[in-house]
Amino acid sequence: MSIFSSDALKGEHALVSGATGGIGAATAKVLVEMGAAVTITGRNKEKLQKLADEIQHKHPEAKLCKQTADLRVDADREKLLKTAEQTCGSITLLVNSAGAAGGNTVDKLTREDMEKIMDLNYTSTVLLTQQVYQKMVQLKRGAIVNVSSLSGLRGTYGNTAYAASKFALIGFTHAMAVEAIAHGIRVNAVCPGWVDTKMGQQSVQRKAERSGSSVEALLEASIPSGRMSEPEEIANTIAFLLTDAARNIIGESVKISGGTVLR
Ligand SMILES: NC(=O)c1ccc[n+]([C@@H]2O[C@H](COP(=O)([O-])OP(=O)(O)OC[C@H]3O[C@@H](n4cnc5c(N)ncnc54)[C@H](OP(=O)(O)O)[C@@H]3O)[C@@H](O)[C@H]2O)c1
Repeated sequence: MSIFSSDALKGEHALVSGATGGIGAATAKVLVEMGAAVTITGRNKEKLQKLADEIQHKHPEAKLCKQTADLRVDADREKLLKTAEQTCGSITLLVNSAGAAGGNTVDKLTREDMEKIMDLNYTSTVLLTQQVYQKMVQLKRGAIVNVSSLSGLRGTYGNTAYAASKFALIGFTHAMAVEAIAHGIRVNAVCPGWVDTKMGQQSVQRKAERSGSSVEALLEASIPSGRMSEPEEIANTIAFLLTDAARNIIGESVKISGGTVLR
């Protein structure tokens, strides 16, 4: 269900990372429906092509750019931004949804685990944002949404590396928001609880196994609404934060968790 008009983001160019994943793909679709030109990126070429085909089939008029990139690689980020600008013009909106789960309980956490997670969830996200931001500063406008997590606001079992990377992203969001608004650029974060994507399903499954309960019983016990969020629900929140309707929302960490934070 979209509550946004088809020209809400007309004239904007949104770059969506993690578009081959559940939340990123849903976000790219809603932004296209709102009239934005959209650049989609991920590492998986087939998934990226499938998403592009789906969007173009439904919206033949959509201005769409696709470019594979491993965001940890400097040359890939450069190529991504060059292709995006050449195809759809200056980037005015950025959604940082690329991310990975992983890690271990702190007694088993390795340096390699820590570095791997921080490299993608924090460092690469910051580097991509920096590059896009420089151009936004010249335009004197823009909006950025970082996809953090409830784990970026509170710790959960076996999640030290992931939580640290998502806390770091929140810290980055807050601090950058203060600087960026002086240039007319808004920066916010969303903090989803469990979302019904591959990553969310694996996480719920792991917790159910550890607690010896069924997935259904776990969801019932830990989420007041009794269910995971749909990727579209996260996408709609991101989309709202990118519009002018959210023009005085700056440096926020918006929780979407079916009330998980209340338990
Ligand atoms: N699902 C949840 O329950 C949940 C909850 C809270 C927060 N989040 C956050 O939401 C974001 C999206 O998660 P999701 O549920 O949509 O997960 P997902 O379906 O697993 O998607 C993850 C995305 O990140 C991309 N990615 C991974 N490594 C990359 C790399 N090195 N370079 C470029 N892209 C890379 C993947 O692309 P390829 O597959 O093409 O490599 C994929 O598009 C993540 O930041 C996650 O931490 C998810």
